[in-house]
Amino acid sequence: MSGLRFIAGRGGPLRGELRVPGDKSVSHRAIMLAALAEGRSEIRGFLEGEDTRATAAAFAAMGVRIEAPDAGLRIVDGVGLGGLAAPSAEIDCGNAGTGMRLMAGVLAGQSFDSVLVGDASLSRRPMRRVTEPLTRMGARIDTVEGGFPPLRIHGGNVLQGIDYEVPVASAQVKSAILLAGLYARGETTVREPHPTRDYTERMLQAFGWEVEHREGFARLRGGGRLSARAVEVPADFSSAAFFIVAASVVPGSDLLLRDVGVHPRRTGLLAALRLMGADIEVSERRERQGEPIADLRVRHARLQGARIPEALVPDMIDEFPALFVAAALAEGDTLVSGAAELRVKESDRIATMASGLRALGARIEETPDGACIRGGRLSGGAADSHGDHRVAMSLAVAGQCADGDVRIGDCDNVATSFPGFDRLAREVGFNLDSRGP
Ligand code: S3P
Repeated sequence: MSGLRFIAGRGGPLRGELRVPGDKSVSHRAIMLAALAEGRSEIRGFLEGEDTRATAAAFAAMGVRIEAPDAGLRIVDGVGLGGLAAPSAEIDCGNAGTGMRLMAGVLAGQSFDSVLVGDASLSRRPMRRVTEPLTRMGARIDTVEGGFPPLRIHGGNVLQGIDYEVPVASAQVKSAILLAGLYARGETTVREPHPTRDYTERMLQAFGWEVEHREGFARLRGGGRLSARAVEVPADFSSAAFFIVAASVVPGSDLLLRDVGVHPRRTGLLAALRLMGADIEVSERRERQGEPIADLRVRHARLQGARIPEALVPDMIDEFPALFVAAALAEGDTLVSGAAELRVKESDRIATMASGLRALGARIEETPDGACIRGGRLSGGAADSHGDHRVAMSLAVAGQCADGDVRIGDCDNVATSFPGFDRLAREVGFNLDSRGP
């Protein structure tokens, strides 16, 4: 049980402008590819979250020199694909599914043994989805019974490229296979049931590796080299999501979010909220290093319940906790389906959001792959985040519209993806107090 608690109350209006911290997915990948590249890479806008710092620490433990002269800046002296050294201890991925799954792909191709461990939440998350294809490539990875961490990865195996159809839409699985493919003989192909974020493919290309890819398809050939380069990390859409929902539901709000990454495979929430009547203006669309970014202006609007199209689910998979809050405050019912993946995130997000919002008087019926959320008012109460960063922040947003104080327990993990969330939130008008242990 953690020490940090949030106490949220009716707040707002939310006004002004802000820039949320760097993208988590891009930050993990930037460290990994910079570490495996030849030469010195500079990463700007790096997310100073516990998840991404754990990935940096992992590569430092494998002999990569990583300097942090400033917050959000990393200078990485890459050691080349074959230059990692055996770590002297287990590698702790903390809370990070992305860190563990992508590193499993990298470590499967090494000459040395390694062990990946995680916190209590990560230790309950399914890893067979990566160990199965990696094993087909020739890797040897032991898990705890049922396919859970720790992952014991045996070195010294020759990997062979595969042509693999991923059963669930997962950028993490795709990326783990592609990263192992760097070390494999021949071609590695990944086919997806629904296209997912393609940061790995595009960043590999930016580091000089040839990758053939289009929506739902990626192919590369093993045995090349990566060349160092500068990386600029955009602001994380998933962190912006809490403010997008908050400004939509808190009366009188008018908030500007700057430089947000608006990769189409990440921004399903915008479409879902617009279906519900949200007022979101996307302006200053531009590209930074090939990555689409934009400013988002969000004004309060009266939201209506909606049926969320299943086709949007993979494009907003991390945003459902925030969407549940919007739905609980909308007029009418919101139906979510086709989202069983939510049950294997940092927490079972269908269950934890349903119980959190029910503690505030919301009416929610769970289904195996979604929920029916009946919109209405929220009361004060005590709600638990179950150690899930996105649940904690979503409940803090809910508190801004609740009729009494909302006390949220177990909030330490907010620092995994969004250090300084509470301070930034207060700056734009949140009523949010944080209490330490
Ligand atoms: C991520 C992919 C998504 C997402 C996670 C980050 C990534 O997971 O939920 O927060 O960086 O590749 P899945 O690919 O398992 O859906």
